[in-house]
Amino acid sequence: MSELRLHTCGNATLILEKNSVPILATDPWLDIHTAYFGSWCTSHKIPKFHFELLQKVPFIWISHFHPDHLNLRSLLKLKAREKTILLSYQYCNRVAEDLRRAGMKVVILPPRQFINIEDDLDIATFPILSTVDSILLIRFKQNLVINSNDTSWDPSMNFIKKEVAKSKSSLLLKLAGYGDADMINIYDEKSRFIEPIAATKPAPGFLLTSQANKLNCTHAMHFSSFHKYIRKDSLWANKYTTPENDLTRGWNKNIGYFKQFSSILINEKGFMKLPSTYPDKNDIAVQMPQEYGDNWDEELSFMEEKVVINYLNKIEEINKNGFSIKVGKKIISSDRFNIKAYQKYNFILNAPRKSLLRAIRSNIFDDLLIGNFAKIIITNKKTLNFRNTLKIPSKYVDNVRINDAQELKQFLWAYRNSYDSKLTLLKSDLKIRARDIVLSNLIKNTKLLGKLKNFYQKI
Ligand SMILES: [Fe+2]
Repeated sequence: MSELRLHTCGNATLILEKNSVPILATDPWLDIHTAYFGSWCTSHKIPKFHFELLQKVPFIWISHFHPDHLNLRSLLKLKAREKTILLSYQYCNRVAEDLRRAGMKVVILPPRQFINIEDDLDIATFPILSTVDSILLIRFKQNLVINSNDTSWDPSMNFIKKEVAKSKSSLLLKLAGYGDADMINIYDEKSRFIEPIAATKPAPGFLLTSQANKLNCTHAMHFSSFHKYIRKDSLWANKYTTPENDLTRGWNKNIGYFKQFSSILINEKGFMKLPSTYPDKNDIAVQMPQEYGDNWDEELSFMEEKVVINYLNKIEEINKNGFSIKVGKKIISSDRFNIKAYQKYNFILNAPRKSLLRAIRSNIFDDLLIGNFAKIIITNKKTLNFRNTLKIPSKYVDNVRINDAQELKQFLWAYRNSYDSKLTLLKSDLKIRARDIVLSNLIKNTKLLGKLKNFYQKI
């Protein structure tokens, strides 16, 4: 009788073994490699047993481009050129192109179609076009595992719910924590730090199980939430990461609990926890910004300044709301605004020279934001959701390769059409708009935002 073993380790790494043969792994990010310009590493070590499975596994599925999921050094260490990389279709297949350029064999899977891996093991994947992320479903003997990593599933809500309904047991693996893994290094116009919502410590167990409940999943496990800050200028953010001893707070007892980094046996009877050793903490050394070429006082050269101005010009071509960038002591704005007029912008991004240039030239602007050593300074009291403006470079310019407002329009049209139900699209639209209004107006009222986050999950 065939059976499946599922192990989770690292940050968002899931390993499948069928009849003791490694079959598939997801998002391998090894504990020896940092991410986001040396800012992050995994919170725990990857046990030797899991590392050996990762070396042998023939298929690797990658959810999205962030380096805690697609870590090129980790892939090369695991000899990924000898394996097959599986990706979901996206509006722009930048990830596939980058990986092929690195010498890897990549297969792009069509959205929402189950592919038979072998015998009774099927997988399906689909994109979340707006965040350039994707979700993986694993189906085995009427059991379903949903690897939702960092993303929500709204565009394929009906598809997932139908698959959950057909399954006897269903396990949701998803990020759910205080919410540090986004740009939270934010200051007001008087240089006062604005506490992130993460400071209110929303109950992680409640956040995860309320989402499992929405899909009618029988089980859930914390996943994709296991990093820490190790760069000297981002160490402060560790205060806002979710401690492992708080992960179960608020857990809905109707949802079956699997501890993070568990091994699970999957067969006709459903899921069964297997004995496993809890991984050790990762003790990687603190990284100095200088190791990554960053010196906060360093200014841009004349030509480098041009590169930054061109990037800002492009952002403004796509979106009316621009922003300025401060490097060293100098504030750089797009051609449309002279330096004295920077106050017209809603915010300034303060970043060190080397990482900023790498982020622009390598199209990894999101990495600069998530690293949380760069700062956002809100200069304008006017209502604005700066995260929406930052989505232009980080998601649309870099990952979707959008160049102007017309291309953005075409992309958003395709995104709206990627929903499997018009009603879900409508609800999702309303939800996002309401959230934007609340976030823009209450950015400095952290406590109230924290309460609203809990209320939002409840409804
Ligand atoms: Fe991510």
